Amino acid sequence: MNYSLEMNNGQLGLIDQDNLEMTPIVIDFISGKTAYRRKYGHAGGEASSKAVGSKKGHRPNIVDATAGWGRDAFVLATLGCRVHMIERSELMAKLLEDGLRRAEQDEKIGKLMKDNLSLSFGESQQELLHTPFEPEVIYLDPMFPHKEKSALVKKDMQILQDIAEQDTDADALLHLALTIATNRVVVKRPSTADFLAEIKPQTSIKTKKHRFDIYLTPQP
Ligand SMILES: C[S@@+](CC[C@H](N)C(=O)[O-])C[C@H]1O[C@@H](n2cnc3c(N)ncnc32)[C@H](O)[C@@H]1O
Repeated sequence: MNYSLEMNNGQLGLIDQDNLEMTPIVIDFISGKTAYRRKYGHAGGEASSKAVGSKKGHRPNIVDATAGWGRDAFVLATLGCRVHMIERSELMAKLLEDGLRRAEQDEKIGKLMKDNLSLSFGESQQELLHTPFEPEVIYLDPMFPHKEKSALVKKDMQILQDIAEQDTDADALLHLALTIATNRVVVKRPSTADFLAEIKPQTSIKTKKHRFDIYLTPQP
């Protein structure tokens, strides 16, 4: 694994030094795949919005403590939730920061982005102790170890697995989140995965590929 960042045409891109033919990967909230989801919706977005308890008249504020490509956070922010992302991989945090900077300058979504989406670079077990607002919801989507590189694991998830640390501390993150979120913690898992930290959620919402486990807080 040998990734680096390069600024090109005003966009920060991730480059695989072992595969220079690969198009640099940028985070594009304005016109990329993520933007398409904003315009046309998608099953995962509906499920994640239900899972965080978002409804007309109440858009909860959320800390996404495992931001990654920022896709889930972006979808929730465009629904009207105030979302603060935390990401500990420096490469990912820089890509997110650049994506956010460009989105904030966009005529259509700039204001929404400034109002609803923010980022800190750091380790969530520390950052959760001083977030910009008290989170009603903490959203966790830790990396799930895929044993081998296969065509079934999407390229962008493979890259994340290459550059981000293994999330071996995800159980501890859930335990901490449960003491901080004022309404619930939502954990996104592959549909066949065990419960994080072996803690049974109060309820789950299932899609074809994923499960959103919902832990109401304070825990009984
Ligand atoms: C599976 S990805 C999340 C994908 C994200 N939900 C999306 O929609 O793009 C997990 C990300 O969480 C980050 N992460 C995991 N544990 C973390 C922690 N304790 N603190 C900060 N970031 C963490 C990893 O570096 C990785 O980028």
